[in-house]
Amino acid sequence: MSTAISEQLDASSGLDRTRLPRHVAIIMDGNGRWAHGRGLPRVMGHRAGIKSVRIAAELAREVGLEVLTLYAFSVENWKRPAAEVSTLMRLLNEYLRRELPTLMKNEIRLNVLGDFEGLPALVQRHLERVMKETGENRKMVLNLALNYGGRSEIVQAARRIAELVKAGKLKVTSLDEELFSRFLYTAGQPDPDLLIRTSGEHRISNFLLWQISYAELYLTPKFWPEFGKADFLEALREYQRRERRFGA
Ligand code: FPP
Repeated sequence: MSTAISEQLDASSGLDRTRLPRHVAIIMDGNGRWAHGRGLPRVMGHRAGIKSVRIAAELAREVGLEVLTLYAFSVENWKRPAAEVSTLMRLLNEYLRRELPTLMKNEIRLNVLGDFEGLPALVQRHLERVMKETGENRKMVLNLALNYGGRSEIVQAARRIAELVKAGKLKVTSLDEELFSRFLYTAGQPDPDLLIRTSGEHRISNFLLWQISYAELYLTPKFWPEFGKADFLEALREYQRRERRFGA
């Protein structure tokens, strides 16, 4: 193999380093079913899911992704039993506290997509602290979608745009797709190239509705707690086998 090709192709992962996605988004699904299958309470599935969160963030950073987005809590998830919601919030606080040194070591910036003010005060405080401390990290962005809904994201963008137009600060004719995207939670980030969903469900579930227009979809039957490094690498290799045409 010529030097150029061997540099391009990473031998251990089989990945072509010149054709990596810039942004990968993941719908982490199946924690409850994973736990149920083992006779455990659902919350044990969420706890086990944190390990997969760590593995995914570590691998994303290792292969050199720019952005990893994880769907951790949707606006619809408030409808779950109160005990499950409070466990999820507690697990999130625990994750933030424990993970800060790793985020710093790996130069990962934490960012939140979603209605921040609607989160419990303690979660907001933990998030603010981690976002502040990791704010200057430049190797990768880890987006946690929390209290997130794709439709409500688009509505809040439309509202802010309408206010600017009403105040005479924005001309209707200057509004285009590029400008609109600057009012979304993902402002300034590339759109996801690859969307992964675990647990065998074939749904988008109100996730990044605007941003995934041209994303490649990768659906796996594995439950989130069993989605490991080899599975993430396989998703990336599958992405590299696809031909992206963007409608052309
Ligand atoms: C979906 O599984 C998963 C969630 C609603 C929450 C994801 C949360 C974690 C992985 C843990 C905490 C996250 C972070 C970032 C620390 P489900 O409960 O819908 O599973 P089911 O469809 O099998 O019931």
